[in-house]
Amino acid sequence: MSRSVLVTGGNRGIGLAIARVFVEAGDKVAITYRSGEPPQELISLGVLAVRCDITDSEQVEQAYKEIEDKHGAVEVLVANAGITKDTLLMRMSEEDFASVVDTNLTGTFRVVKRANRGMLRAKKGRVVLISSVVGLLGAAGQANYAASKAALVGFARSLARELGSRNITFNVVAPGFVDTDMTKVLTDEQRAVIMQQVPLGRYAQPEEIASVVSFLASDNAAYITGAVIPVDGGLGMGH
Ligand SMILES: NC(=O)c1ccc[n+]([C@@H]2O[C@H](COP(=O)([O-])OP(=O)(O)OC[C@H]3O[C@@H](n4cnc5c(N)ncnc54)[C@H](OP(=O)(O)O)[C@@H]3O)[C@@H](O)[C@H]2O)c1
Repeated sequence: MSRSVLVTGGNRGIGLAIARVFVEAGDKVAITYRSGEPPQELISLGVLAVRCDITDSEQVEQAYKEIEDKHGAVEVLVANAGITKDTLLMRMSEEDFASVVDTNLTGTFRVVKRANRGMLRAKKGRVVLISSVVGLLGAAGQANYAASKAALVGFARSLARELGSRNITFNVVAPGFVDTDMTKVLTDEQRAVIMQQVPLGRYAQPEEIASVVSFLASDNAAYITGAVIPVDGGLGMGH
């Protein structure tokens, strides 16, 4: 089985690890990247890399056209691209808030809506949204990010109800702290405080998120929809 898979933000971090597992499974994988050059490693594995800023509907449309042309309609979508702009509420500008929501929530809406066209026609599809434990727990200095990630749960669950009868599943993965560029900005002191709250006492590796995404896209997960799967070392237990 070789499906047409799209991973947004698949050029680094968690998205890159997700792209790799689908390639290893023999799927036709496309990634989007926003800046720089896509990793040579993926290109040599035959991955289609499409430049696309998910805050721009026209770029999303063009990316889908190219993917459909080369791989056929997207059957598995992993909406992974996301940003942080952390600061305390008193210092948070409207732009800090709006740009995080525009990428993490509205950007996800743009790519999911466009993928749905082909999934409806095919009468099947798998959509996995990458949220965060922070969307469930909250975090001081991350009101914009937490709000955008919490919103993905309501978004996915509404679509799970709306499109379940069309054999399209929508699930959310909520990672805890993962070793990527996004968390490299934290100080040693901040890391130590976080680790005290993680029962497993360590950060996740991106591959540990990727394996859960791969499961949700597999036949073994055919009866799972509207679920929020924590991959957080126990940090968010009970939420
Ligand atoms: N790392 C963690 O601890 C952690 C925890 C929970 C959830 N997450 C979530 O997991 C996802 C991936 O995180 P990560 O740690 O791998 O982050 P990362 O290393 O910072 O990578 C973010 C990815 O998103 C892409 N991106 C950002 N804005 C975009 C836009 N407007 N259009 C298209 N692509 C855009 C980036 O592209 P460029 O390379 O072009 O910038 C990059 O590929 C994010 O949604 C994040 O919120 C991360």
